[in-house]
Amino acid sequence: MPEAAPGATPGLGHAIRGRFLLEDGVAFLNNGSYGATPRVVFDAALDWRRRMEAEPVRFFTRTLPPALEAARTALAARLDADPQGLGFVDNATTGVNAVLAGLALEAGDDAVTTDHVYGAVRLAMRHWLGRRGVRVIEAPVPYPVADADQVVAAVAAALTGRTRLLVIDHVASPTALVMPVGRLIALARSRGIRVLVDGAHAPGHLPLSLRALAADWYVGNCHKWMFAARGCGFVYAAPAERAGLHPTVISHGYGQGLAAEFDWTGTRDPCHWLALPEALRFAAEIGPARIADHNRALRAAAAAAIASRWGTGVGAPPDLLGFMAAIRIPTPLAATAENAQALHDRLYDDHRIQVPVIAFAGALWARISAQIFNAPDDYERLAAALAPA
Ligand SMILES: Cc1ncc(COP(=O)(O)O)c(C=O)c1O
Repeated sequence: MPEAAPGATPGLGHAIRGRFLLEDGVAFLNNGSYGATPRVVFDAALDWRRRMEAEPVRFFTRTLPPALEAARTALAARLDADPQGLGFVDNATTGVNAVLAGLALEAGDDAVTTDHVYGAVRLAMRHWLGRRGVRVIEAPVPYPVADADQVVAAVAAALTGRTRLLVIDHVASPTALVMPVGRLIALARSRGIRVLVDGAHAPGHLPLSLRALAADWYVGNCHKWMFAARGCGFVYAAPAERAGLHPTVISHGYGQGLAAEFDWTGTRDPCHWLALPEALRFAAEIGPARIADHNRALRAAAAAAIASRWGTGVGAPPDLLGFMAAIRIPTPLAATAENAQALHDRLYDDHRIQVPVIAFAGALWARISAQIFNAPDDYERLAAALAPA
């Protein structure tokens, strides 16, 4: 497809790809899993690392505390969140584990999530909640899904009189579904149920005001869609939950407030956190609205074009998708994890296309991502590679 195709944006797409370290020749359609770091952010993290090595003691005792505070304040402003309720973690998985570990739930209580839950979070719930005798219920969300009402109805049907916790994804991993989190939080609140939002994919991807959303806990990554160096995540707690939230590793900050506890969990390399302001500057330079317009338009055009070429469909309507979409793959192969992996490997090895293939709801799906370095012809390669003969 030429650059003038639907979804192309002057100055973005392949024109900006050189500002990332991505290798040539790969159609990189999986920003969602691990993100991709701009050169300036990679260099900023490296500069911090050099300062750390130049004088480690001065770095940890004098340089780090104010720099970390500045990074947290910048993140809080971007998320419209109270900085006192925000702590850095390495990634969303670490944040979810900290919240689950600290919950005062007991045998006989129920916790509800959906069947779109991220696999590692499913296991963390089993570990932290199952060992206390808390039952974990997965609400089956219809898929393909038609509208937000179906999601809300599915979750509502799974809530019981003993439900004490709802864990919902802001953007679901296997399906890219953008959950109606505001409505789900309101539903839970009306029943006195606390809510943990797993926003691993949301920062930099969806408009986000943690103040307005008012979840009890919100966990997110900056390294997926916010251009941060990998290993940059956060956990946020509403005022009433702050005293009960601790990192899973207790260290010197214990009892000194959420930020202090998460700031220090032992000696480690904090440079990916310190480079966050550079990532926010990068996004501001490109323009958050321009990024969102490009990524959404590209995702919409690409998903529709691929589904049409394959004669299949997209798993969710456009208003329940952001920068990602899952398109059903036309194949007689059974929907197993092994077949999904084999198809992924074939796309990568034979076609240099990096896209996750996911077995879900009885079918195989290609989950595409649209980031600012993507252009329509990346998706044309995928459409052609799996087009029915
Ligand atoms: C919904 C969801 N939760 C959690 C994670 C885990 O993110 P991380 O590996 O950065 O902890 C992911 C990763 O894709 C995800 O999609």
